[in-house]
Amino acid sequence: MITYNKEARTFKLDTPNTTYMIGLVDEEDFVGHIYYGRKLKENDAQYLLRTEEAPYVPSKNNRERCSFYDCFPFEYPSDGIGDYREGCINVRTASGHAGCMLTYVSHEIMEGKPALEGLPATFGAADECATLKLICEDKYVGMQVELLYTVFYDTDVITRSVRVTNTGAQHFFLTKVYSACIDMDNRNFDMVSMHGSWARERHIQRKTLGYGLQNVSSIRGVSSHQDHPFLALVDKSTTQEQGEVYAMNFVYSGNFRAQAEVSQFDYVRMSMGIHPENFCWKLDCGESFQAPEVVMVYTDKGFDGMTAAFHRLYRKHLIRGEYKDKKRPVLINNWEATYFDFDTEKLLSIAREAAKLGIEMFVLDDGWFGRRNGDNCALGDWQVNETKLKGGLKYLVDEINQLGMKFGIWFEPEMISADSDLYRAHPDWTIAIPGRPASEARQQFVLDLSRQEVVDCIYGQMASVLRSANVEYVKWDMNRHLCDLGSYGLADDRQGELFHRYVLALYQMQDRLTKDFPHLLLENCSSGGARFDPGMLYYSPQIWCSDDTDAIERLAIQEGTALLYPLSTIGAHVSDCPNHIVGRVTPFETRGIVALAGTFGYELDVTKIPQADRERIPAQVAMYHQYNDLVREGDYYRIASYSQNHEYDCWQVVSADQSQSLVTYVQVLSRANVKSRCIRLKGLAEDRYYKVETTSVEFVEEDSIEAKVYSGDTLMKAGLLISELRGDFRARLISLTGV
Ligand code: GLA
Repeated sequence: MITYNKEARTFKLDTPNTTYMIGLVDEEDFVGHIYYGRKLKENDAQYLLRTEEAPYVPSKNNRERCSFYDCFPFEYPSDGIGDYREGCINVRTASGHAGCMLTYVSHEIMEGKPALEGLPATFGAADECATLKLICEDKYVGMQVELLYTVFYDTDVITRSVRVTNTGAQHFFLTKVYSACIDMDNRNFDMVSMHGSWARERHIQRKTLGYGLQNVSSIRGVSSHQDHPFLALVDKSTTQEQGEVYAMNFVYSGNFRAQAEVSQFDYVRMSMGIHPENFCWKLDCGESFQAPEVVMVYTDKGFDGMTAAFHRLYRKHLIRGEYKDKKRPVLINNWEATYFDFDTEKLLSIAREAAKLGIEMFVLDDGWFGRRNGDNCALGDWQVNETKLKGGLKYLVDEINQLGMKFGIWFEPEMISADSDLYRAHPDWTIAIPGRPASEARQQFVLDLSRQEVVDCIYGQMASVLRSANVEYVKWDMNRHLCDLGSYGLADDRQGELFHRYVLALYQMQDRLTKDFPHLLLENCSSGGARFDPGMLYYSPQIWCSDDTDAIERLAIQEGTALLYPLSTIGAHVSDCPNHIVGRVTPFETRGIVALAGTFGYELDVTKIPQADRERIPAQVAMYHQYNDLVREGDYYRIASYSQNHEYDCWQVVSADQSQSLVTYVQVLSRANVKSRCIRLKGLAEDRYYKVETTSVEFVEEDSIEAKVYSGDTLMKAGLLISELRGDFRARLISLTGV
């Protein structure tokens, strides 16, 4: 609910358990941030703006205007006018000057949530959410800024975005525009973020927040393996189950900055938006710029509370399409099975064996097009290589369909190889600074998607491949980052728009793809998980989480990913051992159990793996079918983290009606002379009884917990005993059924 109190000049935005308050101040109508936190009963917290303290508001004490600006808790602070903390917005006017200041003009409160032009965003109907549009202006620049806030009725989330319009008589350049900010008192916060690298994505980091600016960011053109567009400030005492969390997550897939700045007065400014580096957007008179959306979560229920809010929002109000709430086919991908070395017969031999084992879809990865026999050529030439695929794509797909399997295919649409017909015809279609040789990465360049003719050419090629055979799944990959920022197509004074125009064009292409092929299952990928973000989730219900398929490495990667994103979105496969990335050998059973906490599939040559492993596949597929509804739709709880305890990992899912639950326990290294381990479960009904069964019995010699009945209350308060597992990298699935 959103209310405006005319006398107090305050806005109160309520979600089921939180309140967010904004106040209008002084005759100049500054917009101040009053409060964000646990739900307030009354509308009487505006004293938090501290306008009755020195330096007072400018109308009372204009000689200290700068001091006022430098400590006032702004709702959307700006740069260059006297607030020396980092602001959210700045401009360069036609005369070359920087600096702006926003004041209130008007507001509108509406039911539902307007779409954001050209951008992915959360959505909700009139009875699911309400939106406040605060209109502000800088009359000296000739700029109107709309601050949009949406509160959802079914989850403790507030989303924010910003739209800037040139209302003046001359053009100006927008040099920075963040999407959200909170100015509040620092309460000895810790800062939580996620970091990584290729094959090591989204490891959680927690550290003390100190004075000054601390940020996480990407200037790679993608949200990146290295940092994640997420930031949380949490109380020192916050744990998995309790304590305050302020979190932001960016619904955007390009450059970002998320930061917290602790200032001289022990205030903290937390903000998030498009990274200002190399960003400069020209706004001609009447033109607007729509900044992407930030999702904000506040909870006093620790990380469990935060995760529940994000999962709920993304499931109900972000992910779309036919597969949104549907079980995905169990797939087998040929990448780690064959790399580039395949022909029709080899693919069919894998597919035939896979079909016999119950696998439901065959995915043809890189290497099927142009002259692509290695990663050094042919990106941009999306025509089937009929020397490799004798009989063409349709023949292969028909044969696979005959086996009762669906067929999927890989594309890397945003790229161009120097050794390609496309590059030979259009060398100026790459991103490059004219006159300077651009740097290759994986021996490829990035296409200049800011040119509509490039988008149309690539999309046209993709669409004709998809129309030529019964293709039911696409893996959309993106395997290098952007540099040498220059476009042969953009005017000199619009070169600073390239990073963002690239992302907008990517969204446009995926929008077209999902509209033209509504039955297609789209899985995004970027060298594994370099673009696992809410922006991409708007187009594809699942994203390949990491090129690292080792079950033990995946524990930390999937823990970090599931901190924000539902398990139904996490691309996870069983691959061969020794693992191709880390060389580790883990039991086939453990690989299956870890992949079960994701989309589930295989990435191996099923004709070559040991017979004993092959024989396990039908049971694994059956396990997927038995538990996927629960995994996909249930509430997820983190029970223990191997990254923190260095011994074991444990998570749980519970059905909405609390009648079913599945606990996954992974013992990483075994130890001598230990007792059973007691783990406390979550999310069960206190007053219900559950039959507890160990569903994975392959290595369990002695099972003390099999098929016993316990009360939910006891399982949550006292815990469940997990008997010792002999051997390293061992996993166990425990199912709970309400009796
Ligand atoms: C990326 C992907 C892999 C695979 C290769 C193909 O690395 O993450 O899964 O598709 O590209 O080149």
